[in-house]
Amino acid sequence: MGLVEWATDPWGLSVPIHVAWFLIWVALIAGIAFLMVHATYLRYFAKPRRFAAERPTPIADEIPQRVMRHSAAARAFHWIMSAAMLVLLFTAFLPKAGLQFDWVTYHWIAGAVLTASILFHIIHASFWLDFRAIWPDQIDMKDAWHRTLAFFGRPAPLPRKFAKYPLENKLYHGVIMIVGLAVIVTGVFMMFRIRTIFFAREPYLFSDMTWGMIYVLHGLAGVGLIALIIVHIYFGVRPEKLPITKSMIFGWMCREFYLHEHDPARWVVGRPHASHVPSAED
Ligand code: HEM
Repeated sequence: MGLVEWATDPWGLSVPIHVAWFLIWVALIAGIAFLMVHATYLRYFAKPRRFAAERPTPIADEIPQRVMRHSAAARAFHWIMSAAMLVLLFTAFLPKAGLQFDWVTYHWIAGAVLTASILFHIIHASFWLDFRAIWPDQIDMKDAWHRTLAFFGRPAPLPRKFAKYPLENKLYHGVIMIVGLAVIVTGVFMMFRIRTIFFAREPYLFSDMTWGMIYVLHGLAGVGLIALIIVHIYFGVRPEKLPITKSMIFGWMCREFYLHEHDPARWVVGRPHASHVPSAED
């Protein structure tokens, strides 16, 4: 059973046409298996999380009661992107699971919305947001090593509290960025194969072999997104993560949650204060 389905083109050449659709079930089961293992581990085996004491000790009164986490523009982007993503997943995979409808039109429209929203996000994040906040830094890497040692019962210093985004969120963002860009770039080319409002149909833009590889990459990335989106929604609805999810709706998280999870020296909010400026040791 191959991962790719092949066909013979008019010249007798064997060309890939798309991924084998059983991969849909593999991704679905992998996503569900991940959340079952993770939920069981947290419920029965995980030790309570402990962090190193912050230096300097944060002064709660200097932190606003409502800590702004996502601007209105960032929230609008997130929800438009998620709606487009869900429409893309359902329109792509329901017909493969046997529910037949005219899916291509809904699919390319949602694809265009996703593409536009991602272009907006790249510009917004590059010029208006703190672009570095989402990339792992040295403290993340050092703490990841210490957390790994502690997981295997080896002595290790306690990790620091997080900056705006924990390492796990940063890694997830990196993966979804690569997979998302793959599905978008291939999807834009695939629009040349069908009739849309954007450009004239040009099915001979590439050779059959190149088209086949584009379809395979689109399918692989799309299937990967099934598992990635399941994992994302699972974390979004976990009770201990609800303050983060609420901040994606209302924009802010409460001071108590911020102080519990975040290091004010790594994610500076509220009144700027000399004690919040990261030291050379950071
Ligand atoms: C969550 C994201 C996406 C998923 C899961 C997904 C999945 C799929 C799948 C499985 C197919 C069928 C391909 C085949 O038969 O080999 C497909 C077709 C297609 N996709 Fe996507 N896709 C996504 C995003 C996009 C985006 C962003 C665009 C456009 C920018 C796009 C445009 C298209 C087009 C035009 C087709 C139809 C091609 C044809 O019928 O010849 N897709 N997609």
